[in-house]
Amino acid sequence: MAYVIATANMKGGVGKTTLSVNLAAALAKDYGKRVLVFDLDTQISATLGLMSPNVFAKHRKEKRTLKQLLEQTFQINNSNSINIKDAIHYSICQVKNFDLLPGDIELYDEFVVAEMLHEEAFAFDKLDFQFVWNRFERNLITGILKPVIDDYDFIILDCAPGYNLMTRSGLFASDYYLLPMKPEPLSVIGVQLLKRRIDELKRIHESEGGLAVEMLGIVFTMSGNFITGTGMYHRKVMQRIAQDFDIEKIFKTQIPLDIAVAKAFDSFMPVVLSNPQSTGAKSFVQLTQDFLQKLNDREQKNQQLATQNLAAIG
Ligand SMILES: Nc1ncnc2c1ncn2[C@@H]1O[C@H](COP(=O)(O)OP(=O)(O)OP(=O)(O)O)[C@@H](O)[C@H]1O
Ligand SMILES: [Mg+2]
Repeated sequence: MAYVIATANMKGGVGKTTLSVNLAAALAKDYGKRVLVFDLDTQISATLGLMSPNVFAKHRKEKRTLKQLLEQTFQINNSNSINIKDAIHYSICQVKNFDLLPGDIELYDEFVVAEMLHEEAFAFDKLDFQFVWNRFERNLITGILKPVIDDYDFIILDCAPGYNLMTRSGLFASDYYLLPMKPEPLSVIGVQLLKRRIDELKRIHESEGGLAVEMLGIVFTMSGNFITGTGMYHRKVMQRIAQDFDIEKIFKTQIPLDIAVAKAFDSFMPVVLSNPQSTGAKSFVQLTQDFLQKLNDREQKNQQLATQNLAAIG
């Protein structure tokens, strides 16, 4: 079964998409993993970072994007039903086992979703709207991924900034989330806000199946730029983050500001593929190694805890 990893931050423009596509590409190309990138953002930056607008337009015309899969869940346009496997674009950027589920510039109409859930709650008079909504949120993305969950080692969810339905549902489908941030004060607030929101989500859903997602770590992106520099100020922001979070949560590898990283979007390829010799690309490959190590350590810790808990019960 794949590990599902979300990249999330309330704040926009902190490098979520750049991290998603480069981590995914490095996992596939450099570490031989089977990887799916799942674009949950209507800005479709991950999609356009991996395929040209022409190829995307073709997918959209053929109704092979996330929008179609959501519409099926909402029971709209049932006549044209497709499987997630039909929507996935395989061997993206000509890398084996590197696949993309394209997003869409329109995903769902909030009114239609609310109406559908309201009708559902009404049909079963024992169910209240909040219960039906929570269940829907928990199952939406998990349900879409179910047919392919065994086909991959990693599924990377690229979330939109903020905290919309797609992000919340994506977090329910995820084992871990990564929090990319620029080392600057407003990013610190974005990190705190997201953590607070996730804690709240855990509390709300506690009695109904819970929320298992854990933060795997914080990745400093675009570090060493003209605002933060690399000196005292940069370190101060990092110290603030280290005060709020366990220092182990901060990835040792930082992603530097590198024009090659931004330019890679012009070639519809992540920098680890388009310019592997660049400083940015090398940092992403190093970060991917740290990611695998962190994941391994965390899984071992969780297993130890589970064994201890079992022993305590027995
Ligand atoms: N290490 C880097 N060096 C230079 N430019 C970068 C770097 N990382 C990201 N960028 C650029 O910064 C901008 C924002 O990055 P990105 O789109 O990944 O952020 P995001 O958090 O996904 O944004 P959004 O919140 O809008 O989804 C993009 O133009 C991207 O090319
Ligand atoms: Mg993005």
